[in-house]
Amino acid sequence: MKRIAIFASGTGSNAKVLIEYFESHRNAQVTLLVCNKAEAGAIKIAHEHGVESLLISKEEFFSNNSIVEKLQERGIDFIVLAGFLWLIPPAIVASFPNRIVNIHPALLPKFGGKGMYGKKVHEAVIFGKEKESGITIHFVNEKFDEGNHIAQFICPVFSDDTPESLAKRVLELEHKHFALVVDGLLR
Ligand code: GAR
Repeated sequence: MKRIAIFASGTGSNAKVLIEYFESHRNAQVTLLVCNKAEAGAIKIAHEHGVESLLISKEEFFSNNSIVEKLQERGIDFIVLAGFLWLIPPAIVASFPNRIVNIHPALLPKFGGKGMYGKKVHEAVIFGKEKESGITIHFVNEKFDEGNHIAQFICPVFSDDTPESLAKRVLELEHKHFALVVDGLLR
């Protein structure tokens, strides 16, 4: 059984879907949640599901290899970024080649890069008068949102959309597809 670590900074709704998916698909299991915010909903969700959570500081994450060691000690095979704010340091990327995936709430390469997170992405899509948005699931390299694409799923953007209404439609796409795509990669 493969061991998955989820990295999340926020609400954790994708983390919840992933944890629950692999509770009933036993070829893999979410065994660790890595989080940089003590107050994040993701930590509570991990706790409710009996998943270990690791709260990390910026210094620890960026300044040495300790996070890689912690992942290796726990036998982690695969990393899923589900709303994680920080750039992944080269040491982690090198230790998990093609074994780190991210979900982004827009159709990359548009509307990605540093600072393009959550609501800001949807504001930019609406400001850009896009007719379509969606999600991109991609491998992670040393740059924000630039790894090879694995899958994209599209939804419409309506002329009366607000960042909130678009975010809701995009998040539904994430919940529908993310776990299935991760499962496909693991098999
Ligand atoms: C998701 O929409 C995810 O695509 C986005 O953060 C949200 C996390 O929601 N990620 C990014 O914007 C990465 N640049 P969640 O905490 O409810 O899963």
